[in-house]
Order: sequence, then structure tokens, then C-alpha cells
Amino acid sequence: MQQAKILCVVGARPNFMKIAPVMAALGASSNLAPYLVHTGQHYDAAMKHAFFDQLGIPEPDEDLGVGSGSHAVQTAEIMRRFEPVLDREQPALMLVVGDVNSTIACALVATKKGVPVVHVEAGLRSGDRAMPEEVNRVLTDQISDLLFITEREAEPNLAREGIDGERVHFVGNVMIDTLRAQLEKKIPAATSFNDAGADVIFQPGAYGLLTLHRPSNVDDPEVLKRLLTILRALSEELPLVFPVHPRTEAKIRETGLLNLIDSPRILMLPPQGYLQMLGLMAEAQLVLTDSGGIQEETTALGVPCITLRENTERPITVTQGTNTIVGTSPEKIRAAFDDVMTGGGKAGRVPELWDGHAAERIVSVLESWLAERQ
Ligand code: UD1
Repeated sequence: MQQAKILCVVGARPNFMKIAPVMAALGASSNLAPYLVHTGQHYDAAMKHAFFDQLGIPEPDEDLGVGSGSHAVQTAEIMRRFEPVLDREQPALMLVVGDVNSTIACALVATKKGVPVVHVEAGLRSGDRAMPEEVNRVLTDQISDLLFITEREAEPNLAREGIDGERVHFVGNVMIDTLRAQLEKKIPAATSFNDAGADVIFQPGAYGLLTLHRPSNVDDPEVLKRLLTILRALSEELPLVFPVHPRTEAKIRETGLLNLIDSPRILMLPPQGYLQMLGLMAEAQLVLTDSGGIQEETTALGVPCITLRENTERPITVTQGTNTIVGTSPEKIRAAFDDVMTGGGKAGRVPELWDGHAAERIVSVLESWLAERQ
């Protein structure tokens, strides 16, 4: 039997750790053949190459080189450049992951061409339509033929939006497949501190890890100032390690807020590779973040996470994991921080099917789905 071509799309940093196990599992199947398209939404070496190399993702078969732009420009440009690739490759299925602009852009092109769409990490909802990713999630799920979910909570979310349960499969979390596969290879925090020439106050197990990049936190100078002020205060008690996203770095410079966090107790680093980040997360006393993925990774690692957002699309990290949602109020951030410093934070447990085998389950569903349609 001829192998069915599965066209997989990645675009931005959080997609890379999700596609890695999917590409590996597709590669191991004798019935399916992966073809990888990178839209180029993220393009810097630190935002892309480090991940492809460390995670053993094959070089993309096609790089659309889209780059940055407004939401409309970026999304439109991805669609424009993706269409001829889809026409040429004629895949049996098109698979997207996550919730970035590349996800919805390629899903929209494929569905209108009659190419079935597969969405990995479907059904997550924050309920906050002001978040660009929430719009991407809702729309991608509406036009997907097969939806793979990471937690059971996603099922009622999709049912509420009229999506037929037959299309939905609970398979676990591909991002945690990657975490489990790479954990032994993580780069110790001490190595990252050494490489950065960090002060001796930065010691494994005795620092907080901070990440910040959501537009709602970094684009509004008032909110950014409020957050950086409280974070600076917390750093007086626990040194903070802060890998800075390019978007955040630009905003901190534009708004002249650099002096607020210019302290020997805050270690600002460039965007880190996956294995460096894994070491930094695993050995942190606590993590402060507005990332979606890090909420899940800290739950899998059992490290306390304080989420600097008003909501989460990943509620299982709160109900079962180590995550606490605090928003941007300095009082709430302080209270959650004190809680972890004095009581060690929530113990948490690893959610159902976050066992390192989600990608294999996905491939087995794809094989049966295609076999049924032959
Ligand atoms: C995107 C995703 C977000 C994800 C985040 C992780 C959308 C809507 N957002 O947000 O869900 O959590 O990626 O990083 O898809 N830049 C660089 N180098 C790069 C890429 C970007 O310098 O390789 C800078 C550019 O100035 C760009 C800015 O970062 O304008 C923002 O990049 P963009 O892709 O628009 O969104 P992110 O904030 O990264």
C-alpha cells in the first residue's frame, strides 16, 4: 500500500516541542509519510534552530519564511504562501498543533481545499476572546475533522460549540511526550548560570524562573510596569532568572523600564533552548509565567507555578497540577509567592495520559481513520 502523506505544519516556538514526537511517530509508521512545513512565523536562531537541533526535528521540507507582522498581515501571508504547497503536495491529511497564527492560517487554507484538518491540542478554552490564541483555538476546532485533546475538560468545551464527539479523541499531551523523552538530557541550571557568567547567588533549587510575553502583559506599559515592580520586589527574597522573549525585550526597551529590573538579583538571559529551559524549570524553586506550555510542563515536573494571567485554557494544571492563577495584581502575586516560599506550594499530580505516548495514540487513530476511508 502506498504511504499516505501527512502534511504537518509548525510556525512558532511552542509548536516545535509538540511536533517533534508527532514527526517521530509518523516516521515510524509504515502506512504514513510525514511532510513538514515551517511557516517561519518564528525565525531567529534562538527561537527556531535550537529547538529543531535539540529535539531532532527533521529540517522542514518547506520553509515559507513568513516572519513577523500584524495579525492580519502575518495570517494572510501564511495563507498566501501555504496554498501552492498544499496544491503541489496533495496530502491525505493536514495536521496543525496548538493555537498560534500559523495554526488557523493553514487550517483555513486546507479545509477550503477539501483537505481534512487534524488539530493536535484541541478544545482548550480560556473563555477570553481578547486573547489572540483563543480566537485561533475556537476557529481551528470548528474546521477540524479530527480533534486530539490533552485533558477531558476539553470534551464539553467542544460539545458546547456544536462539535461532534465522534471527531474528538482523548490521547494525552504531545508536549509532555517531548518532556519525558528529553528529561534525562536536560542541561543543568548550573551550566546555564556558568555560561551566562551569573553571580554566585544563582544556585540550583534556590531561584525563581520568570517568563513573560503575552501581549496583555507586555504591550500595555502600565501593566508591564506593575508586573516588573512586584517582580523586582520578589527578587529581593528569591533571585529571579528571566529568559526574555524578543517581544518583551522590545517593549521593556521602548518603555524605558529596563532600570526597574536592572538588579544583580535578576538574571536576564536571551531566549533559551529547549534543554536549557528544561533544566531551568526542573531545578527552580518556583516558576512565574504567562506561558501556556510552561503551566503544563511545571505540572508534569511537579514544580510550583504562579501564572500571571487572569485565566487559563489549561484548567487541569490548577485542579490536578501545581499551578495557581493570580493575574497581575501585585497583592495576589505576593500572596502566592509567600505561599510557595513558606509552604512549598501545591503538591499536584501528573494528569491522566500525560505519559509520553500521546503521539503514538494519535498516529494509530490517523491510521484507522484513513483505512476506514479507503
Ligand atoms: C507567538 C504566538 C503565541 C506564543 C508565542 C511564543 C500567535 C498569535 N502568538 O507570539 O501564542 O505563545 O508565539 O513565543 O501566534 N520576534 C523575533 N524573532 C522571532 C520571532 C518574533 O524577534 O523569531 C519578535 C518580532 O519583533 C515580532 C514579535 O517578536 O514582532 C512577536 O512575534 P509574533 O510571532 O508576532 O508573536 P509572539 O509574541 O512570539
